[in-house]
Amino acid sequence: MLKGHGLVYPIIGLASCFAFIYMSFGDLAFQFMEKKMSFVEREGVRFVVDGKPFYVNGLGLRVCRTWAFNDGTYNALQVSPGQFNERVFKALDLVIEEARKHRIRLLLSLSNDWKDFGGKAQYVKWAWEAGLSLSSSNDSFFSDPSIRNYFKNYIKAILTRRNHLSGLQYRDDPTIFGWELMNEPHCPSDPTGDTLQKWIEEMANYVKSIDKKHLVTVGFEGFYGPASPEKMKINPAEHFNKLGVDFCRNSKVAAIDFTSVHIYPDQWLPQGTDQEEKKRFVSRWVASHIEDGQRELNKPVLFTEFGFSSKNKNFSESHMIEFYKHIFDIIYKSAVKKGAGAGSFIWQLVEGGMNDFRDEFDIDVRKRPLLLGLLKEQSCRLAKISNGMF
Ligand SMILES: *[C@@H]1O[C@H](CO)[C@@H](O)[C@H](O)[C@H]1NC(C)=O
Ligand SMILES: *[C@@H]1O[C@H](CO)[C@@H](O)[C@H](O)[C@H]1NC(C)=O
Repeated sequence: MLKGHGLVYPIIGLASCFAFIYMSFGDLAFQFMEKKMSFVEREGVRFVVDGKPFYVNGLGLRVCRTWAFNDGTYNALQVSPGQFNERVFKALDLVIEEARKHRIRLLLSLSNDWKDFGGKAQYVKWAWEAGLSLSSSNDSFFSDPSIRNYFKNYIKAILTRRNHLSGLQYRDDPTIFGWELMNEPHCPSDPTGDTLQKWIEEMANYVKSIDKKHLVTVGFEGFYGPASPEKMKINPAEHFNKLGVDFCRNSKVAAIDFTSVHIYPDQWLPQGTDQEEKKRFVSRWVASHIEDGQRELNKPVLFTEFGFSSKNKNFSESHMIEFYKHIFDIIYKSAVKKGAGAGSFIWQLVEGGMNDFRDEFDIDVRKRPLLLGLLKEQSCRLAKISNGMF
């Protein structure tokens, strides 16, 4: 999700996220400061740290997903291909260092399909400005060799960045949970899925050629494509079959360590769909992907975004709570059975001072005590079956 933001301040936003996490869990976090962090690894369908199972709970406790890109827009990190703003890079260093101090790991995304913070359209614009001949489609991000090189240069610059505070290169820093190639990639210009598949293979292998320590994922919502024709009926509507994304096929790429799913029934299902029908969709969507992780992929499935729209007709807090609880329960049940459901991240937690980030899905838990209670409950019960850090 990422639409219609105005000017935004990514780094400040991240800092606020940590401030929030610290306010909620600071004391506990500090008890673990002395212990050195280990890299998150994968064993079959589960994440492990030091050989013990590790579940992600988007709130606060362990892992925060955020952007490690801002291409060509306000406060850009990458000002033009291969040119970086050192001041912004230092701010990203600080975010990672603060995360480490609070024993929070970061799932870092490297680009965006949407135009927010630049996205693939910015790369295409750069290529046009450089006089390269290419199709005007923004999907030439995935197919054009020069743009693929721009993006590889970007990957290399991030992975080999030496954090001016810790002295560590990002690729050697266990604070980083893993790399996400792109937020919500779509390549509708090639609905066969071949273009995106090739791009994923090339980019995931490129990351691994520089960094063998971190996990890599694609970053998509989980839409099924033509390689799994029988599953396309689980997609929220027919047009999602033609986005050039193919959940099972893409997730099988050997260099992809775990897979991801987003959950937005309010935006994906037709207007006016009622709560019960949305819940049925969510049950199918979540269960189907967890099953894929177990049966077909043998990889963990992380629910990297989900949200409930405050713009819903008849919005009520009780519906919202019911929606979150429904998802948490399915993930928890999977975890108890040692299944592939590896945790979830709410889109999106905000707090004071983050007005530029707000959207119809934002949650300020200080104003939502019931939801905060639910998050704590989910965190605690997942923690009990995790590696004992919380
Ligand atoms: C590419 O994306 C940008 C930003 O969303 C948009 O303005 C532009 O029209 C798109 N180009 C094409 C050819 O669709
Ligand atoms: C909203 O509430 C009205 C009255 O209870 C109901 O008829 C309608 O189906 C509801 N709409 C949705 C989208 O749930």
